Amino acid sequence: MTKDGPARPLRLDGQGKPLWLVCELTYKCPLKCPWCNNPLEFGSIRDELSTEEWKRVLRESRALGSLQLGFTGGEPLVRKDLEELVAEADRLGFYTNLITSTVGMDAERLGRLKAAGLKQIQVSLQSHDADTTNTLVGAPVHQHKIDMIREIKAQGFPVVLNIPVVRQNIAHTTAYLELALELGVDYVEFANVQYYNWALVNRDELMPTLEELRESEAAINAFRARIGKRMTIYFVIPDYFNGRPKACMNGWGSIIMTIAPDGLALPCQEARLLEGLDFPSVRDHSVEWIWKDSPAFKTYRGDDWMKEPCRSCDEKEKDFGGCRCQAYLLTGDAANPDPACSKSPFHHKIGQAIVEAHRPLRNSRPLVMRQAGAS
Ligand code: FES
Repeated sequence: MTKDGPARPLRLDGQGKPLWLVCELTYKCPLKCPWCNNPLEFGSIRDELSTEEWKRVLRESRALGSLQLGFTGGEPLVRKDLEELVAEADRLGFYTNLITSTVGMDAERLGRLKAAGLKQIQVSLQSHDADTTNTLVGAPVHQHKIDMIREIKAQGFPVVLNIPVVRQNIAHTTAYLELALELGVDYVEFANVQYYNWALVNRDELMPTLEELRESEAAINAFRARIGKRMTIYFVIPDYFNGRPKACMNGWGSIIMTIAPDGLALPCQEARLLEGLDFPSVRDHSVEWIWKDSPAFKTYRGDDWMKEPCRSCDEKEKDFGGCRCQAYLLTGDAANPDPACSKSPFHHKIGQAIVEAHRPLRNSRPLVMRQAGAS
């Protein structure tokens, strides 16, 4: 019991701890992926946290109960102090993983990361086909990625292979899985692109049709049946086509905390785009204050903020009202029900987006590649 009555039942909320810490070490990246979730204005966000500032964030987060730490970016390998930060995280007892394109990696650096205590590596690979990969990321890196995946396996890391699923590669599903199996990866994640930032700019050009998604799902199921437990494959039909929103972040400010390169603390990697919320910086506040007391983390925590129909919905403990960033981008108010939900009064916006993306002249516009100043 609390003084206000019975305590709320525990959800997937880590009992109030930021179990999962996401460290965006830099927005710098040698690639130009047109679905990048970094801010459109990433080029003007400078003044990255120093090594010592990052180490303080790691210490304070671990003291607060964080367990899993993802180093991401941009491309985290751009940071020369990555090994030092991995070593500090390992010393503190984090389970660390690196989310990377592998550009900036070689066998020697991989060995140093291993020695520093890195536990797992997630590599993005856009296709089994070199031309497709190189075109989609705007650089000739396909063969390097393949070489590095082999090296990562050779050095004994578990590997998650991540394919951002878009119209341009969705027909490659089976060939991609064949390659993944041959490379010996442990997990394959078919990550249906979420439409924020660069992906939203390119939504009409990137979005597959429901038919293409169903075909891909069927190919994955057939592959799973053929290979058994040799490789784990993740795929879910994206929220645009599902009729129900995703349980974004397992609930706002529930278990995940992201620290951006300039020190802003965010409940999700996209939240910087939300206007009207004053996100605190680790340069000005302790991690504990940010997590427990800052208005930015409390605003959409729990369900008091919800409007109808979310507030009285019997699924709100399952999806937490969906995604605040998507609600903001598509309706102008982050507290609105996520339009991805068929019960949302804004659901028609999803239908309109699908129609718009699949009009007969699809593929008629070139992709806007991620680059500084392009927004
Ligand atoms: Fe920000 Fe869903 S991406 S809440």
